[in-house]
Amino acid sequence: MATVQGSLLSSVVKEKTSTPKNKVTIVGVGQVGMACAVSVLLKELPDVLALVDILEDKLQGEKMDLEHGSLFLKTPTIVANKDYSVTADSKLVVVTGGVRQQEGESRLNLVQRNVNVFKFIVPQVVKYSPDATILVVSNPVDIMTYVTWKLSGLPQNKVIGSGTNLDSARFRYLMAQKLGINTSSVHGYVLGEHGDTSVPIWSGANVGGVALQSLNPDIGTDKDSENWKDVHKEVVSSAYDVIRLKGYTNWAIGMSVADLAESILKNLSRVHPVSTMVKGFYGIENEVFLSLPCVLNAQGLVQVVNQKLTDDEKAQLQKSAATLWQIQQDLKDL
Ligand code: 2OP
Repeated sequence: MATVQGSLLSSVVKEKTSTPKNKVTIVGVGQVGMACAVSVLLKELPDVLALVDILEDKLQGEKMDLEHGSLFLKTPTIVANKDYSVTADSKLVVVTGGVRQQEGESRLNLVQRNVNVFKFIVPQVVKYSPDATILVVSNPVDIMTYVTWKLSGLPQNKVIGSGTNLDSARFRYLMAQKLGINTSSVHGYVLGEHGDTSVPIWSGANVGGVALQSLNPDIGTDKDSENWKDVHKEVVSSAYDVIRLKGYTNWAIGMSVADLAESILKNLSRVHPVSTMVKGFYGIENEVFLSLPCVLNAQGLVQVVNQKLTDDEKAQLQKSAATLWQIQQDLKDL
């Protein structure tokens, strides 16, 4: 008895084989992991999406819920398993696993717990996708990117931290609100640590090529009557404010991760402020990861933009680097 499929479809090829071209793995299906998953799906980036976590029911539930949206997506295959073999042959692996900040908790406070989680995650990611670019999101992201680089044995261009890509997006949004124009038309970077000691680069803030500092030389300083410095203060407090109100942040970080994923998977060579090894930059002499403007494409992080910084900006980066280096020295069993 012919089946419906047999009667409906006449095969032209003997067997359908499909090697994924743009497989994306999301490690961790918590609030951030799923925001990353939905963001990359809606940007139509992967042909295969793999989800991995230790909570099997949550994992299968999230997979099913996404598959029920297949009519609205351009990702034909979504797989999920707690066994990392499901991640095999990924082009990009986004790591969101680990614990997140509780209300009022600093990102740095999470470090040892997340190092222990990463000692389980990273070796398995590399085992099944040795050629993948790893994009680290878990906090404290700069230290966790260093930890991933050490545990993975991968070259620096293949281990990237989401870093201040989100801080810079918040910075641009808040400046745009102050100016009454679209965020995409206000340019500027927050560099260094993703978090409490991030550094706003006021000298680079511009609209239409007009440097805001050329219009207000005191911008970002205590002498500034327009209080632009408050914009960066709000960038630093953003996550704490959102966590106090809803318990976690996820949507903006998810969208910012998809922005980075797009440059990598589409080989765009766009510049993003992301966490990379900064030893040798701006007088930093230790192996620490901080955000600088970097070129991202299919090879991962391929170049760093030599941003001109003021002495004060350099000093702030050096201070952040010293703080992270000290924490890294105290990491157990790395
Ligand atoms: C954020 O900045 C918590 O690092 C996360 O939203």
